[in-house]
Amino acid sequence: MADDTTDTKSSNQMWGGRFASGPDAIMEEINASIGFDKKLFAQDIRGSIAHATMLAHQGIISAEDKDKIVHGLNTILSEIESGNFEFSRQLEDIHMNVEARLATLIGPAAGRLHTARSRNDQVALDFRLWVKEELQKTEQMLTGLIAAFLDRAEEHAESVMPGFTHLQTAQPVTFGHHCMAYVEMFGRDRSRVRHAIEHLDESPIGAAALAGTGYPIDRHMTAKALGFREPTRNSIDTVSDRDFAIEFLSIAAIAGMHLSRLAEEIVIWSTPQFGFVRLSDAFSTGSSIMPQKKNPDAAELVRAKTGRINGSLVALLTIMKGLPLAYSKDMQEDKEQVFDAAESLELAIAAMTGMVRDMTVNTARMKAAAGSGYSTATDLADWLVREAGLPFRDAHHVTGRAVALAESKGCDLAELPLSDLQAIHAAITDKVYDVLTVEASVASRKSFGGTAPSEVRRQIAFWRARN
Ligand code: ARG
Repeated sequence: MADDTTDTKSSNQMWGGRFASGPDAIMEEINASIGFDKKLFAQDIRGSIAHATMLAHQGIISAEDKDKIVHGLNTILSEIESGNFEFSRQLEDIHMNVEARLATLIGPAAGRLHTARSRNDQVALDFRLWVKEELQKTEQMLTGLIAAFLDRAEEHAESVMPGFTHLQTAQPVTFGHHCMAYVEMFGRDRSRVRHAIEHLDESPIGAAALAGTGYPIDRHMTAKALGFREPTRNSIDTVSDRDFAIEFLSIAAIAGMHLSRLAEEIVIWSTPQFGFVRLSDAFSTGSSIMPQKKNPDAAELVRAKTGRINGSLVALLTIMKGLPLAYSKDMQEDKEQVFDAAESLELAIAAMTGMVRDMTVNTARMKAAAGSGYSTATDLADWLVREAGLPFRDAHHVTGRAVALAESKGCDLAELPLSDLQAIHAAITDKVYDVLTVEASVASRKSFGGTAPSEVRRQIAFWRARN
């Protein structure tokens, strides 16, 4: 398509030496990443300032050129921040947009900035810095969500609700205990985030194209200036590695899955049939046709965002899986996946934090539901083991008969007269009624990590101290 004799497009100013003509329009379109990687402008400029400072310190460029470069880069930073920067697609990406503008601003000294580096280590640096900041933000947001749950758990350490397995009433638990389950889940997510920050805390700059460089650079100096623990140790790996992005997406996918389960519970709990919680107006919408409705749209969207995040994880794993070492242009497709997932995750955490803080908990509805469905049947069986010395399997059988009887009479276990219970097993006394209430049931489950209010309070104290 591109014909050298008729092509009027100029060859690229960064590598034009070898090229007679500029790219075909389609080539430019498929090649350009500026549309999304302009998000990295602050990291790109920060990296370049650290690099230029190191080059001057090592005597690779003059102090005078370094000063011009740093001044020019700071000017570009404020131009971009104030919206006075014209991004050009012809210049392909953020790195070349910044460098070209630098040349306009300071002249030939700009050409010295790219000494001893390549866009391969430059993009690895910029993206790592961006992901590191995003992980730090995620850590804070998860801490906020955990704090919201700790407050609700404290408030409801004694509020009884049905615990479910198979979404069938299983045993009574406290709402505080249920909230603390989410504290454990988001606490694990947060520690995954902390580990990921440790993993990526190595500086890529100075790996150059893939082989390192012959210039006497100081990679420890740039690592320190950019807030990394140390430089990476293998230049080939450095420019081919996107584990830090994949790790971010994996963490986002797991946290998203937790957020989605929470969202699903809120959707169920807020139905009129359950009525366990009522969402605030701030986190629900009405229906344009059915005036009575209050829809949990935010929770539903959190559930859906999780699908998007999973898609990004699979996309990047698939992009990377066939790439030979070292850099290949395929890797440019890493950014949109991470940016999109980061936006979804931030929104999802913020929305769930708001919902958890704002929702009204209907303790009366929860308690009524906790007592239905023979939720204290296990307590009756345990009582028979403890007080009448029955083997658990026999106690289970006796209890099953009591449940069947209650069912046929259309009453609760606690409403069966003692004579009925004694007809099923003679060892039953009126003391049994003490364990058939939901409050007695939860209070008895004091095992470490159990649902008893005293135990829930112990776990809340643990997490408050851990923050
Ligand atoms: N825009 C590129 C990216 O995001 C920068 C690195 C380009 N390197 C190269 N050798 N073409 O990956």
